[in-house]
Amino acid sequence: MQRVVVANDHGAVELAQILIAHLKERGFAVNHLGVTTADSVDYPDMAAAACAEYRTGGYAFGVLLCGTGIGISISANKIDGIRCALPQNRYAAAMARRHNDVNFIAFGGRIDYPEDPVSMLDAFIDATFEGGRHQRRVDKIMALQS
Ligand code: RB5
Repeated sequence: MQRVVVANDHGAVELAQILIAHLKERGFAVNHLGVTTADSVDYPDMAAAACAEYRTGGYAFGVLLCGTGIGISISANKIDGIRCALPQNRYAAAMARRHNDVNFIAFGGRIDYPEDPVSMLDAFIDATFEGGRHQRRVDKIMALQS
């Protein structure tokens, strides 16, 4: 069974639960590091916890959520080895995997998406990295890390 690590702040409790339920329906084993209440937490802490867990190995990908998805994706992208996308729609979610080979996808719990975030997550899951010239570009992204 493929494993997925999920973490969110208080700004995305409901969306996190929706995506977790969908991941389980799709047969993933979900490790949810929280949170499940509206009590305020700091999104960099949630990103750090999820990325550290991902880096222990054995995860297919990770899902991060905050109010906008912005803060938690910025935080994740500071961590060595992590490429986190914040897609606008299904197309971007699929391309994040096909061209950018991201290992995390982020969502905003307070964002009105033009398409159902569940379908965006599906588009991400069902896409495959194309390699080739995209591998060269991904390598260049990772070489930017200072
Ligand atoms: C928390 O209020 C909010 O700032 C956070 O969820 C996120 O939107 C930050 O980018």
